[in-house]
Amino acid sequence: MQSLTINPGGPLTGTLSVPGDKSITHRAVILSALAEGESLITGYCRGEDCLNTVRAFRAMGIRIAEQPDHLRVSGKGFWGLAEPEHPLDCGNSGTGIRLLTGLLAGQDFFTVLTGDESVRRRPMGRVVRPLREMGAMIAGRKGGELAPLAVSGSRLHGIAYVSSVASAQVKSALLLAALSAEGVTRITEPYRSRDHTERLFRHFGIPIQEDGSAVVVPGHLSVGWAGKELPLPGDLSAAAFFVVGASIVPGSDLTITGVGINPTRTGLLDALTGMGANIQVLNRREQAGEPVADLRVRSAALHGIRVGAERIPETIDEFPILCVAAALAEGETAITGAQELRVKESDRIATMAIELTKMGAAITETPDGLIIQGSGARATRRLRGASCHSHGDHRVAMSLAIAGLVADAPTRIEDAGCIDTSFPGFEAKLLELLTQSGRGL
Ligand code: S3P
Repeated sequence: MQSLTINPGGPLTGTLSVPGDKSITHRAVILSALAEGESLITGYCRGEDCLNTVRAFRAMGIRIAEQPDHLRVSGKGFWGLAEPEHPLDCGNSGTGIRLLTGLLAGQDFFTVLTGDESVRRRPMGRVVRPLREMGAMIAGRKGGELAPLAVSGSRLHGIAYVSSVASAQVKSALLLAALSAEGVTRITEPYRSRDHTERLFRHFGIPIQEDGSAVVVPGHLSVGWAGKELPLPGDLSAAAFFVVGASIVPGSDLTITGVGINPTRTGLLDALTGMGANIQVLNRREQAGEPVADLRVRSAALHGIRVGAERIPETIDEFPILCVAAALAEGETAITGAQELRVKESDRIATMAIELTKMGAAITETPDGLIIQGSGARATRRLRGASCHSHGDHRVAMSLAIAGLVADAPTRIEDAGCIDTSFPGFEAKLLELLTQSGRGL
């Protein structure tokens, strides 16, 4: 497996763009495939996760022309999908498999959905159980708790579902199922999760209402919507690595252009600002129903912070890189209520504790979070160069790469090929920034 070696370096200066938003790309492909006519998705995420969703729709008879900067999707309408001849492989993507399960539950054919070793370990019962309440016929390993899942499309009906987890994947799977269901579907979450599906529904003209932390859709929405132009924002979860990198590497001054700043995703920016980071949000605008801006980040002395359960959903994918910021901050950072991190691409509480400990960070795992004693900006030795492992988790790999910039010796990250699931070209972008500032990897 491919490894990545990071030499201590910096500062990070200049301007960069990041891949299109991964979450929105999945949804844009799905709703475009179901639209009547052509959609043009520009600035999409070319990570393997999204390409697997593209492949899945091709296998269901949808023509999708792929260029480096855009996808042209020839939608055939809600009932235009065809039964695929083989199992759909969602690769590493929990979003892909869960959203497709919701959509396919209400189609009129049979599908098998599977994924890589990590996806086959992740909990599927959280979508399978409410979908069965809607009338879905889904079988799977351990009674439907684990993939592969076999979905026999059936007639669905709306339900009022109160989810015990704040999960956009659960909510979106049910919203996609609701498109073909009879009667109203209402989904309530303990905290509001990312709302890209809701925004894209509105963008396509599909009726949806919000009611506090609940979303409500009327039944029989499958009547049809037209293809659209969808210019997607850059992925804040990809920008996050550079936002933290520029914050912790002294002398950095970096501008990241065209980044999505949907408030259900900006927990990292709020946390870093609370830690003393210097982040300016410039040139605010809107693209495909999503708020977008340029982010200018200059290095700053950070201090520890507390992040509790209510802040988890909007920060969920950024905890690995937040741990790196915390390890370099002055004082203690405590993250609580984050048990969802244990069921991501890896158990991110355990993997970040193990790997940052190898780099000399003082980080303690708790059942639902982490406690990190930061070294502080004035420490002579900030982190130690080490031999680390990604645990097959793209966000862990990229977080360790950023940590490596402020280590006292080179850091080697084994199994770094997983970075391609969300951010192909990450290493090249990092190298380019370091070269611009005169320091190579
Ligand atoms: C996602 C939702 C989140 C997030 C994941 C992408 C989405 O997962 O962690 O990377 O696109 O809906 P959960 O819904 O499981 O919290």
